[in-house]
Amino acid sequence: MKNTRRSCLKHFSFISLFLKHNLLSFLGCLVLIAIVFVTPNSLLAVPAKSGQVLFNENCAGCHINGGNIIRRNRTLKLSDLKRRGLDNPEAIARIAKEGIGTMSGYEEYLGEDGAKLVAEWIWNQAQNAWTQG
Ligand code: HEC
Repeated sequence: MKNTRRSCLKHFSFISLFLKHNLLSFLGCLVLIAIVFVTPNSLLAVPAKSGQVLFNENCAGCHINGGNIIRRNRTLKLSDLKRRGLDNPEAIARIAKEGIGTMSGYEEYLGEDGAKLVAEWIWNQAQNAWTQG
């Protein structure tokens, strides 16, 4: 009789330990989930592509080194941009999105921010005669 009680107690303490252990790992999980939710999105998100990367992926095929392989005098060089009143990042971003003449727009590949980023990078390059890395 005595013996049975003791083994029962032993058993009970084992269960309570097990429960406690599980509760701890459960709480641990909750803490982890909370951390993931609280962490600012900016830390988890994939970094936005730079203007240079966007240019290489979407524009360089025709505008290699700021030139134009299809229409020679419609380059991204300062003189051509000035001549056509496109000498600011806003005008370049609009063309990147909507296209111009025979060039189609690239809005679906660039998005609003991408057009702005690539235009700023192009404008920067144009002002430096396309000599920057
Ligand atoms: C498939 C070839 C092609 C691609 C790719 C391309 N363009 Fe063009 N781009 C052209 C052509 C052709 C013109 C001249 C269009 C015209 O005036 O008829 C042009 C003109 C321009 C002009 C006006 C330049 C000037 O001197 O008049 C800008 C700015 C421009 N493109 C920016 C971009 C940007 C930014 C991208 C990438 C998002 C891009 N282009 C991708 C072919 C292309």
